[in-house]
Amino acid sequence: MKIELPFGSFNLPSLPKFPSFSLPPLRVLPNAALGIDIGTSSLKVVELSRWGERRNLKNYGELRIPTLYKKPFRTFEKSTLLLETRDIARALKAILQEANIKSRRAVFSLPDFSSFFTNFQLPPMSKEEIPDAVTYEARRHIPVPLSEVIFDWEIVDHATQSKDPLDVLLVAVPNEVVNQYQEIARMCELDLVALEAEVFGLIRSWSRDERTPTILLDIGAQSTTVNVVSEGMLRSSHSFDIAGNTLTERLAKAFSTDYETAEREKATKGIAAPETITVLSPLVDLIIKEIEAQALAFKDSKGKDIQKIILGGGAALLPGLKDYVAKSTGKTVEIINPFHTIFYSPVLEYTLQPLGPSYAVAVGMALRALE
Ligand SMILES: Nc1ncnc2c1ncn2[C@@H]1O[C@H](COP(=O)(O)OP(=O)(O)OP(=O)(O)O)[C@@H](O)[C@H]1O
Ligand SMILES: [Mg+2]
Repeated sequence: MKIELPFGSFNLPSLPKFPSFSLPPLRVLPNAALGIDIGTSSLKVVELSRWGERRNLKNYGELRIPTLYKKPFRTFEKSTLLLETRDIARALKAILQEANIKSRRAVFSLPDFSSFFTNFQLPPMSKEEIPDAVTYEARRHIPVPLSEVIFDWEIVDHATQSKDPLDVLLVAVPNEVVNQYQEIARMCELDLVALEAEVFGLIRSWSRDERTPTILLDIGAQSTTVNVVSEGMLRSSHSFDIAGNTLTERLAKAFSTDYETAEREKATKGIAAPETITVLSPLVDLIIKEIEAQALAFKDSKGKDIQKIILGGGAALLPGLKDYVAKSTGKTVEIINPFHTIFYSPVLEYTLQPLGPSYAVAVGMALRALE
């Protein structure tokens, strides 16, 4: 198993060689595979199958943790890691069984908050010199010893002139986190072919050929990630802790209700009713401030404006959010639909529509697993 950050290609295990044949090497492509997103509020599984270039939705399933259960499903505290690994494996097994999922080939997403992203520049140099230079820089940027993480990188902007600096995006993940995912896969008898930072699943399920500078948001339960994507490449990624749960907690406090009632208020009134706008807008404004900061940083470094904002993550469905963000930023805002290139039974149309934003990462992982 190789950790898969966006880049580097993961090679399928090579086929046994038959010495008597001298045919061109075969590439065996999987016909069905799983994408698995272990979020803080729920665990999502998507099973896709392939038929030529066509991708079909075979199955999907989710296990939500009760809203009353305050402890996040996903933590990285050493003391609870083993226990949590068992709990997650048990939950995942239950989904696989319940949805009668038979595929074993799986790609898991790594939470953005456990992935460390950084950008830096290297002076112009030859291709051969880059790996050593990146490793040297990685030591300065990654806050823990390199032996404790797995990292990958990519040149996100190739210098147009030989004297231009090179823009590098580096992603690092603690070994401990990778080990935990390997253990979960082992407990569930899954064939873990790759791990990928969740933002790359989001990009893949959003669009394969969108080139314009875009901000892709993942507003989950515990954290929000603001990603700048341009020419199909991730330029920057920034996570913070204002997300779905924060909105619910703020509503519960303002209306002195319990968490579950507040969760319902959030999903029905959102930021579209006068009494909830006053409570939620200061929090949503903080998210917008982050969007604007990332857009400005991109403009400063690349001289280009962000054209579009795409809302992903379950909280993207907050009633009124799309219009609120459009009005505040003056940009085009859309809600992600990860199923737009995938075939599924027409009877699922209305069921899938509201699931899109929260399933985007899992769909992206399943697409990767089929590659
Ligand atoms: N219709 C809706 N309106 C408002 N919020 C919603 C709606 N549907 C889901 N949410 C919120 O979306 C959040 C869950 O989103 P998602 O499934 O993307 O989270 P997660 O992946 O488990 O969390 P994280 O990515 O932070 O680990 C919850 O806070 C939930 O209340
Ligand atoms: Mg998530």
